[in-house]
Amino acid sequence: MSKNSLNIGLFGFGCVGQGLYHVLKNSTGFKANITKIAVKNRNKPRAVSKDLITYNKWEILDDPAIDIVVELIDDAAEAYLIVTEALRKRKHVVTANKKLLALHLEELIALQKEHGVSLLYEGAVCGSIPILRTLEEYFDNEPIKKVSGIFNGTSNYILSKMQSERIAYTSALAEAQEKGFAESDPSGDVNGDDAAYKAVIIALHAFGLVIGPQAVLNLGISNLQKDDLGYAREKGCRIKLLPLVKRLHQNSICVFVIPQLVSSDHHLFQVENEFNGVIVDGEFSGEQFLQGRGAGSYPTGAAVLSDISALSHGYGYEYKKHRQARPLSFTNAVFLNVYLRYNTILDLEKIEFDEIYEKYESADYNYVVGKIALTTLIAEKEFIFQNRLFVALINDETDPPTHELPRQKKQKTNSNPELRKKITA
Ligand code: HSE
Repeated sequence: MSKNSLNIGLFGFGCVGQGLYHVLKNSTGFKANITKIAVKNRNKPRAVSKDLITYNKWEILDDPAIDIVVELIDDAAEAYLIVTEALRKRKHVVTANKKLLALHLEELIALQKEHGVSLLYEGAVCGSIPILRTLEEYFDNEPIKKVSGIFNGTSNYILSKMQSERIAYTSALAEAQEKGFAESDPSGDVNGDDAAYKAVIIALHAFGLVIGPQAVLNLGISNLQKDDLGYAREKGCRIKLLPLVKRLHQNSICVFVIPQLVSSDHHLFQVENEFNGVIVDGEFSGEQFLQGRGAGSYPTGAAVLSDISALSHGYGYEYKKHRQARPLSFTNAVFLNVYLRYNTILDLEKIEFDEIYEKYESADYNYVVGKIALTTLIAEKEFIFQNRLFVALINDETDPPTHELPRQKKQKTNSNPELRKKITA
């Protein structure tokens, strides 16, 4: 697309929509007009001219003068209707809606191809960090070993405030909401849904795999208690909510979101508050680390503006890894090293470990550290959540995938100091 003046139809004028409006107005190098803004709530005061506002989505979708549709609403189902309709009407689209994307990636790739238009969504993954274009353009030909990091600003803000300033969970969440980092319904921020959607999008751009988010285990931070924080502190670690997208042997990929204990020499230890950090481990280039604001009005608005500007130069994702004929497949057949805080011994009968390295029991605090099948955590996710148990990865080491999980699981205690040392490494 090359035009002197681009016309944008914007859906949503909340935190990110207003951020985009601000960064566009203050952009030095790039000019575009927001010609219409479609919003839902007729009673909210809007800090823009009334003439810009519409309550009818077709005023944007049917307007032939609008070149780019920017979708920044918080309702994924409605966003799906808007984005797919816009693509069918041969408009380029920018969205920051990770849920919509994660649920419909295959269809959205096909629609772009069919109608010869582009859909960009850098702002959907880790706010202002340009991770998708980095994967698409820099790592397009290099096999990736792993992408991990902090993908959710709200949960990281809560964890930071709890660990560094001893602020209570509910107060920290309220602050994150006030600052515009959280979703309208913050449950997806704290239960790991939001990070899982982002991990699914990353799995596409890093490995070419389309994975349904329902197949990805996400254990969040809402069950975190002060004993868990004490355990982490004692080991010199901080708890962070980390998605992991990792290539295993036999070209299978595992993806999950689980809190993790990170030690002080880890890239992510110092990534605090709403900041996100992404580690990309390339087969030849090794580890690279990107850090930036992962949530908030202006940083996400800046990512959206960058996509609009990229569209004006004719840019589109080529999904090169998706098109490369590498027979990769998704798997949950993997073993992890985890810490589990439990209530009674009955919990351990339900949540069976393959091996136990460390065990502690007292009147009001019990935990084990050991090796467990990811499939066991998936099967017991609801039990873990309902009974307020807490799980954290000790490290992101995964045992090679075992396509046949052991039929008889062992329960053995190991107090070997070498293994204990490995736990905090
Ligand atoms: N609620 C999200 C977060 C916003 O906290 O990371 C950015 O996707």
